[in-house]
Amino acid sequence: MPDAPRTILVTSALPYANGPIHLGHLVEYIQTDIWVRFQRAAGNHCLYVCADDAHGTPIMLRAERDGITPESLIEAVGVEHRADFRDFFVEFDHYHTTHSEENRALATFIYERLRDGGHIAVREIRQAYDPVKEMFLPDRYIRGTCPRCRAADQYGDSCESCGATYTPTDLINPVSVLSGQPPIERESEHHFVKLADFEPMLREWVAGTGPGGRPRVQPEIANKLAEWFDSGLRDWDISRDAPYFGFEIPGAPGKYFYVWLDAPIGYMASFRALCGRRPDLDFDAYWGAGSKAELYHFIGKDIAYFHTLFWPAQLHGAGFRTPSAVFCHGFLTVNGQKMSKSRGTFVKARTYLEHLDPEYLRYYFACKLGAGIDDIDLSLDDFVQRVNADLVGKVVNIASRCAGFIARGSDGMLADALEDPALHDRFVAAGDSIAAHYEGREYGRAQREIMALADLANQYIDERKPWVLAKQPGTAAEVQAVCTMGINLFRVIATYLAPVLPRLARKVEAFLGCGPTSWTAVTEPVLGRRIAPYEPLLTRVDPAKVAAMVEASKEELAPVAAPVRAPDAGPASPPSEPIAAEITIDDFARVDLRVARVVAADLVEGADKLLRLTLDVGSEQRTVFSGIRAAYEPAALVGRLVVLVANLKPRKMRFGVSEGMVLASGPGGSDIWLVTPDEGAVPGQRVR
Ligand code: 2FM
Ligand code: ZN
Repeated sequence: MPDAPRTILVTSALPYANGPIHLGHLVEYIQTDIWVRFQRAAGNHCLYVCADDAHGTPIMLRAERDGITPESLIEAVGVEHRADFRDFFVEFDHYHTTHSEENRALATFIYERLRDGGHIAVREIRQAYDPVKEMFLPDRYIRGTCPRCRAADQYGDSCESCGATYTPTDLINPVSVLSGQPPIERESEHHFVKLADFEPMLREWVAGTGPGGRPRVQPEIANKLAEWFDSGLRDWDISRDAPYFGFEIPGAPGKYFYVWLDAPIGYMASFRALCGRRPDLDFDAYWGAGSKAELYHFIGKDIAYFHTLFWPAQLHGAGFRTPSAVFCHGFLTVNGQKMSKSRGTFVKARTYLEHLDPEYLRYYFACKLGAGIDDIDLSLDDFVQRVNADLVGKVVNIASRCAGFIARGSDGMLADALEDPALHDRFVAAGDSIAAHYEGREYGRAQREIMALADLANQYIDERKPWVLAKQPGTAAEVQAVCTMGINLFRVIATYLAPVLPRLARKVEAFLGCGPTSWTAVTEPVLGRRIAPYEPLLTRVDPAKVAAMVEASKEELAPVAAPVRAPDAGPASPPSEPIAAEITIDDFARVDLRVARVVAADLVEGADKLLRLTLDVGSEQRTVFSGIRAAYEPAALVGRLVVLVANLKPRKMRFGVSEGMVLASGPGGSDIWLVTPDEGAVPGQRVR
């Protein structure tokens, strides 16, 4: 390992402050945390900062839907995120938020530098606008029929059915998902970063190398960048119109920085906040143009464009240093498929923690992680098998086999010398290659080498058979020597695993009473000292708990009460039906009522009283045949909210299967009034 300590600053991507951390996120935080812990174990100065990504339209709307301010939403989510990270042993030096004064100041500063350098253009653009909600609509908030394959209810930017990409204006019958009304087009002035100004600098940055001659981006990302350069660097739209939750652009009232402008600046803001607590740290030494510190961003491959083009351009344009390298990882699949709420494989960090030990997942991800951008799969059967076979069957087994003999046979005392110093040397020597794998983010390789050492240690014990020796008279010293050897080999292994299994490492330190384990410390064996009584270090994964976690992750549709207002105004017929027989609250609870949005309403050939409604119930779509033809024009229903009896047994009708029933009042015919939740209720919410 090199002698001179390096100074390193590391970040993980900032999670959005409107949803929980899930296993997909954790791939990255665990990957980064392992790297940071490794760097420290190797003697480097390594800091790790992150923050919540708190701005943007989804956060604004989610707060509005929940009837709270965006500030209280991001505060509450921030508390959950921090707790999730802490409990997975993801240890930041500082965890901040992009909605902070540090970030406002830095975003403003960077924008003004770019503007003063002539890198900001201002011009009018036409955009979809929701006249009811009175706001411009991001593409994802517009849905309609795909212009290519005619699939209904597709997003404004791409079709999930045929994969076509387009602009919202290409959609057939587009509607705003916020109001259900067709959007109109409106002009407004936007601010752009002229990215092409930075092309020479970006090409140089990408082609250059970071410390140690290592490339700045992985080969796959370099190829992507070549494509992006070839297709030309377009201006980047960095402004959004009010209403928007973010920072107002200086000198442009009613215009806000787009969330992606100030998100990566959040890395700096978090570091600045850390400097506020740590006077020994100098902000400019890390971020100034002449910085000697190394700066690494761990991100998912989907946000490479932001981090390898926009971000270095922003930094350079504002006179800061650029990243030493950007490390991308792939996505997580579970059991070979995309994570799915209905299959119970979209597992939240908290749900995992309620059932399983975080170190199991840290180890499993480590086994799967390499330096590339391939997706990684969490196969739940393999997870159980791998953790039990490796960590429990191989690693912990070494200590548990030896500890009892030391406790009973030699009163807890380790022998004064190693029985097989050459074997210990071999373990120590393996540290270089394992360290190189960690450094290169080849964690899977590192784990395989460590497990090979564990096999050797077990083989050593199997050959020496302390349990046989212990039964023979006069062998106490030999048993002690063999078990002292086993425990020292175990200590080296636990040290190599420490970046992955930090709690196990702490337990081992307490067991051996020998100070913090580190790559350099293990070159000296622990000898001639008393060790603590052995406590179990890690228990087997119980497959039943994995099953329970999956079960608990199966999506209950959002159990939030939705406001239901009176039925549509209309010539109410006097209530002529007597009130039905009394039921209990439990009887009522058996009826699962859900908010749903009408995605399509079609005439049914051969049934002049019926409409075929396609309903969005949040997690799925339902087809319901409803006898409301005489009361409603189909087109007028598209986009409106209704209440669905969601657990009604499906009924086979002549025209198809009806999967539920929508609530309406009135005697029938044209005298029917659909029950409609207020706008703001969300498809899938339970109605109580
Ligand atoms: O994709 C995301 O989840 C973003 N919130 C990541 C931001 S990373 C950084 F640029 F802030
Ligand atoms: Zn399509």
